[in-house]
Amino acid sequence: MRQDLDHLNSWILLVVTVATIVTGLVVHLWDLHGFTWHTYFGYALIITVVVHFLLNFRQLFAYTGFRMRRGLRTFRGRPRPAPPAPVRQPAGVRATTKKVLLSRRSLVGLALGGAGGYLIGRGLRPPVQLERGTDLGLVYHQWSSKPGMIDAIGALANLGRQPPLYKSYEGAVQVALPPASMAGGMQTEMAMARRQSLRAYSASPMTAQELSRVLLLTAGRSNRERRHHPSSGALYPIEAYAVVHNVAGVERGVYHYSPENHLLEQVRAGDFRTYVVEHGLNQQFLGDCAVVIYLTMIFQRMRFKYGERSYRYGLIEAGHLGQNLYLAATSLGLGACAVGAYDDQGIEELLAIDGREEVSVYLLSLGRV
Ligand SMILES: Cc1cc2nc3c(=O)[nH]c(=O)nc-3n(C[C@H](O)[C@H](O)[C@H](O)COP(=O)(O)O)c2cc1C
Repeated sequence: MRQDLDHLNSWILLVVTVATIVTGLVVHLWDLHGFTWHTYFGYALIITVVVHFLLNFRQLFAYTGFRMRRGLRTFRGRPRPAPPAPVRQPAGVRATTKKVLLSRRSLVGLALGGAGGYLIGRGLRPPVQLERGTDLGLVYHQWSSKPGMIDAIGALANLGRQPPLYKSYEGAVQVALPPASMAGGMQTEMAMARRQSLRAYSASPMTAQELSRVLLLTAGRSNRERRHHPSSGALYPIEAYAVVHNVAGVERGVYHYSPENHLLEQVRAGDFRTYVVEHGLNQQFLGDCAVVIYLTMIFQRMRFKYGERSYRYGLIEAGHLGQNLYLAATSLGLGACAVGAYDDQGIEELLAIDGREEVSVYLLSLGRV
C-alpha cells in the first residue's frame, strides 16, 4: 500500500514539476504576475515534495548513514556483479519467446498518450459559435479574455518575432522640432478639471514650440527608458502622425512623429484639410484646427508576446496617449477633440500604412481656441 502510494506520488511529483516549470515560463514571457495556475502548481509541488519526503525519509536517512559509515571510497571500489551466464538449452529444444500483443510498457504509453490528449483537449478553447447578429466586439472580448493554457503555451511557437520598437523613414525629409520647454502651463489638477472637447478653432496658427511640447508629452519620452504613457510590456505599439494644417514654421503635410529623436519625418507634403474632413465623416472642425494627430497601432509589436490580447492592450494604450494630448493641450491653453468616427481606409492611404500590420485606431484635433 505504502509502496503504491509512493509510486503514485512520484508520478504526480513529475507532472507537477513540469507544470510548474511551464507555467513559470508563461509568467515570465507574458509578464503575467497574477497567473494563478503557476501559484497553484507551486503549492501542489510543495505538498508532493513533503509527501515524498515523508514516505521515503527512513530509506533516505538509512542510506545516508550507511554511506557516512562506509566512507566515500566504496563508491569507487565496489565490484560490479558479473552478468548471468546464458541459459543453455538442451539439444533438440528450441528457444521460444512468448509473443504478447500489448506489452505492459505499451499499455502505459497508450494510457499516458490518452491522458495527455484529454488534457490538451481540456486546455484548448472551444471554437467560437457565431450566431446571426452576434456582436463581433463581444465575441472578440470573450475569445481574448479566456486564453486556454494550451493556447498560451502554443503561442510560443508561432507568433513571430519582435519588430523594432521605433519606426523610421529612411531618406525622408526630417523636420526638427524646437526643444520642448516644460516651463509655464497649468497645474495638473487644473488641466484635468478644465479639459473638454473643443470643436471651434480660431484661424491663428499654433507655434512649433507648442506642437513640439504636445507631441513630446503625448507620445514622446524624457529619457531612453521611459515614455510619457504606460505600455503593456513596454512594447509601445502606438505610432503618432501629425497632419499639419496651420503651424507657424512647419510646411503643410503629413508627418510621422519619431519619439526616438523627437522630430517629424515627412510622409507627404501638401494641404490635406479637405481630404481629412471628407474622410472624417465630414466633421468640419478637422479642417479648421491647426493639426490633426492620428494614432496608429503596429500589431506585431505586441502580438509576438500577447497574442490575441494585443488588440485590447493597443486600444487601451491609444487612450492613454489621447488623454495625455488633451491635458498637454489644455495646459497650454489650446483645444483638442478626440475623434473615433472616420473612414479607416482613407486615413490609412493618407498615412501610407497598409491597414493590416499597421492600422489607424484614433485621431485627435488640436488647435488654438
Ligand atoms: C473614443 C472616442 C471617440 C470620440 N469620437 C468623437 C467624434 O467622432 N466626434 C466628436 O465630435 N467627438 C468625439 N468624441 C468626443 C466626445 O464626444 C466627448 O468626449 C464627449 O462628448 C464628452 O465631452 P468632453 O470631452 O468635452 O468632456 C469622442 C470621444 C472618445 C473618447
